[in-house]
Amino acid sequence: MLLDGRDPAAIARAAEAIAAGELVAFPTETVYGLGARADHDDAVAKIFALKGRPQDHPLIVHVADRAHAERFAAALPPVAERLIDAFWPGPLTVIVLRAAGIGDAAAAHQATIGLRCPAHPIAHALLAEAGERGVPGIAAPSANRFGRVSATTAAHVVEELGDELLVIDGGAARIGIESAIVDCSTGSPVLLRPGILTRDRIETAAGAAVRQPGPAAPRAPGTLAAHYAPKAKVRIMATPILKAALDVLGSDPLKLAVYSRSIPSGVATGVVHRRMPARPEQAAHELFAVLRELDREGVHLIWVEEPPPGPEWDGVRDRLDRAAAT
Ligand code: TXA
Ligand code: MG
Repeated sequence: MLLDGRDPAAIARAAEAIAAGELVAFPTETVYGLGARADHDDAVAKIFALKGRPQDHPLIVHVADRAHAERFAAALPPVAERLIDAFWPGPLTVIVLRAAGIGDAAAAHQATIGLRCPAHPIAHALLAEAGERGVPGIAAPSANRFGRVSATTAAHVVEELGDELLVIDGGAARIGIESAIVDCSTGSPVLLRPGILTRDRIETAAGAAVRQPGPAAPRAPGTLAAHYAPKAKVRIMATPILKAALDVLGSDPLKLAVYSRSIPSGVATGVVHRRMPARPEQAAHELFAVLRELDREGVHLIWVEEPPPGPEWDGVRDRLDRAAAT
């Protein structure tokens, strides 16, 4: 059921449902989240059931402010404090050691917990209203079925999870890809998932080098190589290869879509063409919606022109790599 995010009565109703242990999907500046009160393991269990998410994939707990974050954290290490000061509210999640006796199911029974204070007025209002009803934080993964493309509009949430769920409609998510995740629970910070905040900005704020996940650094449980998968098969291609492939294709009626920055539409007939924006923020904003739209068009294959190499494209490149990993 859709609730209008501009209506204070709707937010109060959603907060009531959260306090009662029910699920509510809500907008954030990154993607829509599927929320439950983080301090009730039974409520959190409903998230795993509805998403079809494996039990060992921890969730991010959304908090109204730093004081609420401190209720879930055993301690905030200096690096986490600096990142919180620099980027909250905003698209950054910090992983820290978890306080005893809270958020066990949300953290998938791990000793650490992911915390994020979102910068979206509706998410903020929901956290504040739920807070008044005794809820210290809202556990919320992206509001999609497990392994699928994240939802960036209320309609996408309904498409993924059905219309019995309470969904607060707040329009299209501004950023469009999920938060950057920095693990601050060990000696040196690790960027577990790139987002729209670049690594250099994160390092400057952290005052420390931030390692990239790789064979040497631990992967976040739940960050799978294959993820964000539309139904169509996605392949990323260097510009000249994509050009050559379209050349030999001629007018074969393949169910093919091309998502590219530099190839003009109309190069091959019968091919669905979407122009990838030249700016990474814009590309991130529309990425998941474009993948969904191409699925709706019924294409079997999506050929994506490789994004440019700059670090500002890391978040988009990461999501595309995973979408192409199946
Ligand atoms: O932008 C976002 O972060 C969105 C919105 C709704 O806030 N949320 C989101 O949640 O992307 P989700 O569940 O789709 O991705 C959360 C990821 C997990 O897959 C896992 O990799 C990591 O966060 N994570 C959460 N808690 C963790 C922990 N304690 N240790 C390591 N990784 C953790
Ligand atoms: Mg997700």
